[in-house]
Amino acid sequence: MTRPAHQVTTRHLGALYPFVAGAGFGVPGVLVGVDVSGSTFAHDPFELYRAGVVTNPNMVVFGQIGRGKSALVKTYLWRHAVFGRRAWVVDPKGEYGPLARCWGVEPVHLRPGGTLRLNPLDAPPASARPAADDDDDADRRRAELLVALAGAGLGRPLLPSERVAVELAVSTVGRRQPNPTLPDVVAAMLAPTAAAAAAVRTDVPGLAADGRQAALELRRLVAGDLRGMFDGPTSPGVDLAAPLVVLDLSSLYRSPALGVVMTCATAWLHAQLAGGTPAPGGVLVVVDEAWAILSNLAVARWLQASWKLARAWGVANVAVLHRVSDLTASGAEGSEHQQLARGLLADSETRVVYGQAPGEVSAARQLLGLSATEAELVPQLGRGVALWKVAGRSFVVRHLLSAAEAHLVGTDGRMAAAVR
Ligand SMILES: Nc1ncnc2c1ncn2[C@@H]1O[C@H](COP(=O)(O)OP(=O)(O)O)[C@@H](O)[C@H]1O
Ligand SMILES: [Mg+2]
Repeated sequence: MTRPAHQVTTRHLGALYPFVAGAGFGVPGVLVGVDVSGSTFAHDPFELYRAGVVTNPNMVVFGQIGRGKSALVKTYLWRHAVFGRRAWVVDPKGEYGPLARCWGVEPVHLRPGGTLRLNPLDAPPASARPAADDDDDADRRRAELLVALAGAGLGRPLLPSERVAVELAVSTVGRRQPNPTLPDVVAAMLAPTAAAAAAVRTDVPGLAADGRQAALELRRLVAGDLRGMFDGPTSPGVDLAAPLVVLDLSSLYRSPALGVVMTCATAWLHAQLAGGTPAPGGVLVVVDEAWAILSNLAVARWLQASWKLARAWGVANVAVLHRVSDLTASGAEGSEHQQLARGLLADSETRVVYGQAPGEVSAARQLLGLSATEAELVPQLGRGVALWKVAGRSFVVRHLLSAAEAHLVGTDGRMAAAVR
C-alpha cells in the first residue's frame, strides 16, 4: 500500500508534526533536534537536493559505539514515514524490529540454510529499465558485484585475467537465461565454453584456470557455509511495496563473512531500486554498520559505483560507520583507498559526526574538512550530540528523542545482549 504524501503547507504540517524549516537552510525537513544556538534543526535529503543545497542526497553517519547513530537513523526514518517516505534497511545487528513493527511490517530474516533467498544478480524487469540500461549494462553490474565479492573473499584485487573470467562467465550465462543465479555463474567459470575462451584467445582449460580462484571463492556463497541465502532465484515473501523493508542479518553478525553477506543484501536492494520499485516520494536506503563492507577496497569501489547510479533512482543512501578511517582501512595517503574514501564522501554531502576517539581526529579533519575548532570538539561530543556537516555548513545538534520513540531505539538492554 502506498501512503500518499501530505498535501498541505509546511506551516500547517509544522502544527501536526515537526516538519520544520530548519536552522539555516530555509528548506523543510524532519525535526532532528536542537542546535547549539537553541534553534530547531531539521533535515531532509530529498528537499535539500531538490532545492539545490546539496548535489546528492546521500548521508554518512560516523561515531563510536553507543553514541546514538542507530537511534538517530531509526527516529529519522520514523519521522520521514509520516510524509510517505519509504525505507529499506540492511540491519546486521537485528535491531530494527521495533521500528518495523511500528510500521506494521516484520523484518526479513536471512540466515544460512534458511528458507528465504535473495538473488543478488536480479536485474530490473526489462520494462522498468531506462532505454540506455540494456542487457549489457545489467551484465556489467553483475560482473562488478562478483568481482567485488571475489576480491573481498580473496583479500586482494582480482587480476585482469580473473576479472575477464568473471565477465565472460556472466555474459555466457546472461545469454542463456534472463535471470542468472550465482550457481550458474560459478559453474560457467569452472567450466567455461569454447566461445568464451576464444573471445580472449585462450583455450578452455586456460580460461578455467584463470577464473578458478575467484570461482572457488564465489562458490562459498553457493555450496559453502553461506549457502541458502543468495544462491537461487529470489523467493516470494519480500514485500517491496511495504513502507519499510528490513533485511535482518543478525544471525551472521559474528561471522567473518558479514561483509560479503551485507554486500549481497545491498546489491539486491539496489537491483530492485533500478527496477523502479520505489514510491515517487523517495526511498532511504540504510546500511547500518557499513564499516563491515566499506573496509574492503573491492567492495567499497562497487558501493561507490552503485551510489552514483542511485542518484537517478530517487534514493538517499545512508551509511553508518564507526570511524572515518573505516573508509580508508589500510590505505596510505594518495592510495586508491584514500581516493575512494574521498569519492564516497564527495557523494555524501550530509556527514553526521558523533564522538570520535582522539586518535581519529586527524583522519576526520583531513577527510571531512573539519575546522580546528570542530576537530577539537569531535572527541568531546556526548551521546546523542553530533556535528552535522551539510554542503559545507556545520551544525552541532542534540538529537531529541520523544517518549513515544524510546522503545524504537533501546539497544542497551535485551537486543544488545543478543548480539554482543
Ligand atoms: N539522543 C539520544 N538521547 C538519549 N538516549 C539516546 C540518544 N541516542 C541514543 N540513545 C541511547 O543510547 C543507546 C545507544 O544508542 P545507539 O543508537 O544504539 O548507538 P550506536 O548505534 O551509535 O552504537 C541506546 O540505548 C539509546 O537508547
Ligand atoms: Mg548502531
